[in-house]
Amino acid sequence: MQVSYQERQAGEIACTTVMPTRPVPGMVEDIRESLLKQPRSISPKYFYDERGSELFDQICSTPEYYPTRTENNILDRYAKKIIDKTRPDQILELGSGYSTKTRHLFDACEFVNHNCGYAPFDVCEEVLIDSAVKLTEEYQWLELNPLLGDYHAGLGNLPLIHANRLFVFLGSTIGNFEENNALKFIAELSNIMKPGDYLLLGADRVKENKVLHAAYNDAEGITAEFNLNVLRVINRELDANFNLDEFTHSASFNTTKNRIEMRLISNMNQDVEINEMNESIHFEQGDDILTEISQKYTYEGIEGMLAAANLTTIDHFEDDKAYFSLILAGK
Ligand code: SAH
Ligand code: TRP
Repeated sequence: MQVSYQERQAGEIACTTVMPTRPVPGMVEDIRESLLKQPRSISPKYFYDERGSELFDQICSTPEYYPTRTENNILDRYAKKIIDKTRPDQILELGSGYSTKTRHLFDACEFVNHNCGYAPFDVCEEVLIDSAVKLTEEYQWLELNPLLGDYHAGLGNLPLIHANRLFVFLGSTIGNFEENNALKFIAELSNIMKPGDYLLLGADRVKENKVLHAAYNDAEGITAEFNLNVLRVINRELDANFNLDEFTHSASFNTTKNRIEMRLISNMNQDVEINEMNESIHFEQGDDILTEISQKYTYEGIEGMLAAANLTTIDHFEDDKAYFSLILAGK
């Protein structure tokens, strides 16, 4: 039986709302500063409504999208070692999504008979509640504290705990930040960490263009659908009239910046109304909107970023092909 969102919310699971530590622009202001300006862009956080989160989950199981599988295998292999080393009282995961890979850490806790809590932190409430329901069933011992909020709004208001915390940031989501913002974010995280706290960071590595290109251009077109979904979100939230059939997904590797750049390209000359804002946007055929970047790292690059944030690399785990890195760092 399908349980409605309201019913779920009314049940035992409640999210703690994390208040912003600095003013965060609302969607109208965001769109004014990005989509209405040149070069046009849209903040990737608008990808993740309920449908977007489901589509992202589907991307993760496409044959082309190696990062999830690879990171999952690394975690499967080293979770016990990570738990042994860190012995966290709480695991706090940034951008937790469905917490699929994190289960290896819970399994490891079970294996070594170590009790800990779990605080998944995400901007998508539906997904937080959905996965909390499942986790409660699967790991009855796990004390759950879902945190609802925007990590761009600052990390200063995360609930304080006087115990050891393992921060987890997987999926190379750090690569979706512009380079200087990534550094600021890790520094901000480092600032709230105390001795005995750890960070487990997943980062995708630089590799053959062919492999990278395929990962963001899956044959089934799910990534394209995910990318286009952001226009559906804007249509719904700002009463806009983007025609999803008149934009095309594009993802290519920028070899100068070592990053995938995801765009939506206008198929024709067209005008789009954003009624809520009383604005209209003109697109010429071929005009584009930047929707996401995905930075690819060298090992030295990741270590450098951590060191610049005052964090020491303790362990580095990777797969046989060195496609993906999982780094354990401490204060
Ligand atoms: N960690 C999972 C999901 C990665 S997708 C994995 O590795 O597969 C990125 C996740 O970050 C999504 O669940 C999305 O809802 C969340 N997210 C995106 N922007 C966010 C923001 N600004 N604040 C908090 N969570 C955010
Ligand atoms: N963190 C993921 C990555 O950089 C996010 C992602 C995967 C993504 N596929 C995407 C974002 C397609 C936008 C579009 O790999």
